[in-house]
Amino acid sequence: MSGSLLVDNIGELVTNGLGEGPLGIRRDAAVLVEDGRVAWVGAAAYAPAADRRLDADGAAVLPGFVDSHAHLVFAGDRAAEFAARMAGQPYTGGGIRTTVGATRAAGDDDLRATVRRLRGEALRQGTTTMEIKSGYGLTVADEARSLRIAAETSTETTFLGAHVVPAEYADRPDDYVGLVCGPMLAAAAPHAKWIDVFCERGAFDVDHARAILACGQAVGLGVRLHANQLGPGPGVQLGVELGAASVDHCTYLSDADIDALAGAHTTTVATLLPGAEFSTRSPYPDARRLLDAGVTVALATDCNPGSSYTSSMPFCVALAVREMRMTPAEAVWAATAGGARALRRDDIGVLTPGARADLVVLDAPSYLHLAYRPGVPLIRQVIRNGVPQ
Ligand code: NIG
Ligand code: FE
Repeated sequence: MSGSLLVDNIGELVTNGLGEGPLGIRRDAAVLVEDGRVAWVGAAAYAPAADRRLDADGAAVLPGFVDSHAHLVFAGDRAAEFAARMAGQPYTGGGIRTTVGATRAAGDDDLRATVRRLRGEALRQGTTTMEIKSGYGLTVADEARSLRIAAETSTETTFLGAHVVPAEYADRPDDYVGLVCGPMLAAAAPHAKWIDVFCERGAFDVDHARAILACGQAVGLGVRLHANQLGPGPGVQLGVELGAASVDHCTYLSDADIDALAGAHTTTVATLLPGAEFSTRSPYPDARRLLDAGVTVALATDCNPGSSYTSSMPFCVALAVREMRMTPAEAVWAATAGGARALRRDDIGVLTPGARADLVVLDAPSYLHLAYRPGVPLIRQVIRNGVPQ
């Protein structure tokens, strides 16, 4: 579909730019979309003519959600592991190897179908940008194919060959790190924008993580990190040291971690993943501590079959407000503009002239309803790249 589109009669427009409050709200507004971009934002009364018109009927409109952390390339599920956790078993990450086995055994079309199904699910819930990680292949061929398949659906692809040490390398982790930094990175890099490491006891220690991330940086990949998920550790400070775009999870943070993230020259975002705490019965991270220190916070789903099998950003917004001491405005910002910062993008997460025309029309008069009415399908219409979905 070509031509201009006017999204008109918007009761409450979240721009994340100029406007009222931290969300840059405009009331009784309209947005003109042309060539996949926002061409004009202003009062509905002064809206320019357009080829087509979409009447928001007084509802709230916000930027599409930016889910900056998801693991969509996998086979099988781990529902039984979830049930065992709800009966008291702890989450250790040990189940990752179960999914690795299923993923290696799956055909390309099965993996592709899962990615598309989850991406579609997320889109219907308002996610217009979704990062996708590898990390359930853990061989040269399986990591490369995971990223090839991810790249069919997203430009935000992340090489996570250092998710865990696979069983066949259990007694020689140094050799596995060599494989990740050598042939696996060489095969993965053409399909990846980012590199990620699970820096945690039982996964990769800080020296291995630093070495792997440095190899990724050397071939031009941006750095992100799974850090401080299962306990306190060095991951967050390593991320800051390396100039990571984002350190993700941040469930267990020391004062020194927060100071590092809040440092004057730090551009590293703290990405919080409350779906993981929900699904592992772990304590939620305290977003208030981060926000009060001036740290940039993003929210993402961590969609994966083990620790967080949800693709729903509205669910994460509701959890963040209820469990992490975020205001609804902070949570909505973190799920849109925050996610964009975590991906170092300035063309998404905002509705200002020049931005990508990724918009969500709610079935509600205010963004507040995303947290106020949890579990209710409030996404009436999604526009991605200027195209109504
Ligand atoms: O982000 N923590 C590491 N990786 C995923 C979980 C993967 C799994 O359990 O399969 C996460 O939570
Ligand atoms: Fe993750």
